[in-house]
Amino acid sequence: MIRIDSVTKRYPDGTVAVDNLSLEIPDRSITVFVGPSGCGKTTTLRMINRMIEPTEGRILLDGKDLAQQPVNTLRRSMGYVIQNAGLFQHRTIVDNIATVPRLLGWSKDKARARARELMDRVGLDGALAKRYPYQLSGGQQQRVGVARALAADPPVLLMDEPFSAVDPVVRKGLQDELLRIQEELGKTIVFVTHDIDEAVKIGTNVAVMRTGGHLAQFAPPAELLSNPADDFVEDFLGADRGIRRLSFFSTADLGLLTTPIVAVDSTAEQISERSAGDVPYLLVTDVEGKPLGWSEPARLTAGAVDPERLLPYGRPFEHGKESLRAALDGAVLSPTGWAVAVSADGRVTGVVSQQTIGEAIRAAHAEGDPDGRTDGRTDAKVAG
Ligand SMILES: Nc1ncnc2c1ncn2[C@@H]1O[C@H](COP(=O)(O)OP(=O)(O)OP(=O)(O)O)[C@@H](O)[C@H]1O
Ligand SMILES: [Mg+2]
Repeated sequence: MIRIDSVTKRYPDGTVAVDNLSLEIPDRSITVFVGPSGCGKTTTLRMINRMIEPTEGRILLDGKDLAQQPVNTLRRSMGYVIQNAGLFQHRTIVDNIATVPRLLGWSKDKARARARELMDRVGLDGALAKRYPYQLSGGQQQRVGVARALAADPPVLLMDEPFSAVDPVVRKGLQDELLRIQEELGKTIVFVTHDIDEAVKIGTNVAVMRTGGHLAQFAPPAELLSNPADDFVEDFLGADRGIRRLSFFSTADLGLLTTPIVAVDSTAEQISERSAGDVPYLLVTDVEGKPLGWSEPARLTAGAVDPERLLPYGRPFEHGKESLRAALDGAVLSPTGWAVAVSADGRVTGVVSQQTIGEAIRAAHAEGDPDGRTDGRTDAKVAG
């Protein structure tokens, strides 16, 4: 655990970058520092590996004051990733990643073997190993940066706006990858961003900072969204925090209907059986059980179903895995107001109306704070 204990950083010109900051960074989790430009995020991160020394207060790693530890040993136990990756332009990808193991005295072969293993781990094609950084896309370079930071297997990873320079799609991929790596390797990650969505998505805990180096709130994302400490945090979270909070509620208990579903090759009898009880719409699936679209029962003719003429089914959600936010999104996207639940392989497991989703949301709120950690984590990754 890293404990930041009443830390203040005052630069020589008098600027107070961090003001009396205290918080605990638990092991094997992702702690995110988020806040507007100049609020002291980078300064805080750099005090953790002693690139910057605090003016007052102390930082403890596993109970030991950082100030008492040799800087070199300390840095080796902390991988560091920055925006634009900061790669060595004259070194190949594999040698960039092998940098720290080589410094630690590993043989070239062993270091390169380790580098190739890490390329695989961060989702880089081995064929890129001999290229130079300028021959890679921004997103690929960022992955190299992560692999390089992981090379000596440090327990701690410090990341300063690592994904800020790439487009939103690549960025989402990098975030998902980071979550997967963290789950696999159990690193203690300290992550700086100014993007609150990124913070909510990847953070186990989020520290919201405000200008002047003040800590405005330190909490798990679900709690930030449900209980912002003050107007600043609420403002920073943005207008749709209620909707975003739904990402932390599971769909596992959502009551699905399995009756109003017919396969495209259903007989007239099956269609009429399935539309019993005033069902407004039937979901038509292909022969494998994957969704095709909705239809009013009266408009379905057995043996002559035209998938082109069905109403769109929106975006299906993975039942039990994705959140109420995904379910609601699915319902809102379909003109019928019904969402389609699928299993991991895309086959329909049931359908659910906007109204039922609304009831589930009310029930979830009534139960108090959502279980942000387990469900939220899995979900944020899947639902975005
Ligand atoms: N070497 C320095 N000397 C004087 N002031 C500094 C120095 N480095 C940073 N600052 C100031 O300290 C404050 C915090 O800077 P810091 O880089 O930690 O902010 P940040 O939250 O990382 O911002 P950004 O999101 O823009 O990266 C800012 O007001 C900055 O101008
Ligand atoms: Mg910064």
